[in-house]
Amino acid sequence: MQNFSIGIIGAGNMGLALASGLALRMAPGRIAVSDPHPDKRQRVSDLGISALADNDSVVARADLLVLAVKPQAVRGLCTAIAPTVRDRQVLVISVAAGIRGADIARWLGGAPAVIRAMPNTPALINAGVSVLWANDQATAAQRQAAATVLGAVSEVFWLTDEALMDAATAISGSGPAYFFLMVEALTVAGVALGLPQDLSAALAAGTAAGAGRMVHDHPAEAALLRARVTSPGGTTERAIKSLLGEGFMEMFGRAALAARDRSRELGEQLGAA
Ligand SMILES: NC(=O)c1ccc[n+]([C@@H]2O[C@H](COP(=O)([O-])OP(=O)(O)OC[C@H]3O[C@@H](n4cnc5c(N)ncnc54)[C@H](OP(=O)(O)O)[C@@H]3O)[C@@H](O)[C@H]2O)c1
Repeated sequence: MQNFSIGIIGAGNMGLALASGLALRMAPGRIAVSDPHPDKRQRVSDLGISALADNDSVVARADLLVLAVKPQAVRGLCTAIAPTVRDRQVLVISVAAGIRGADIARWLGGAPAVIRAMPNTPALINAGVSVLWANDQATAAQRQAAATVLGAVSEVFWLTDEALMDAATAISGSGPAYFFLMVEALTVAGVALGLPQDLSAALAAGTAAGAGRMVHDHPAEAALLRARVTSPGGTTERAIKSLLGEGFMEMFGRAALAARDRSRELGEQLGAA
């Protein structure tokens, strides 16, 4: 897989982000993307990457194929490209939330190598995290190739238990929205305290970015970092006590459970039949 060719089907948010990240790391001539929309193909062409309307032409030249379409579109896509994938023994990487590896393999037919990846939105600015899982057919070289592809836009972590992909989706896949919500909430709180809207939003967003950078460098030490900025008897302690007293930790537990269950549900609904 040293000089693998990459095909990406779907040039939406994630497909375009992957294409952009990869174009900086490998010869654009080794990448091809397909999408039905001319405007999206134009954005791909602007990267120097071949953009086609026809999926089969992309599959026909790929060693590694990324399915970057919505979960609801995966089944139809797999069925349509199955003969070409089978002929060429292409590694298929799906970034679709919820859709299980066994269902993708069944729709493709034969015994294809399938890797599931769950990236997240910060991949659009090359700051994502991705969780990957590979089926038994994927070779070590194919796993390495998949890590290289997702590594173009994100940090990469592997899971050996596919069932935990739903949990990872609940934490990092959906996670950026939780932090955006916190910035929204903090902005509203600042305005309620009399700050101008723009200033409150800038303070909340800047604080999220700075705190994010600090904890990113010490992921196991979130509680310690919090303790360090929480002086006894101080303002932060008062706020944290209020948050914890209102059930902040339990709220996150319930939210993550709801997201995990929805991911499972999607897999069951869309994988049926
Ligand atoms: N965006 C994220 O932050 C994120 C994070 C993690 C995982 N994901 C996963 O990434 C996948 C793509 O998400 P997205 O946000 O990039 O979606 P998106 O913006 O809707 O992009 C998908 C693109 O693929 C096209 N498409 C659909 N069916 C196709 C087919 N059969 N052949 C070729 N192109 C086709 C779509 O066209 P139409 O619009 O006409 O259908 C659209 O242009 C999803 O499965 C999602 O679960 C996304």
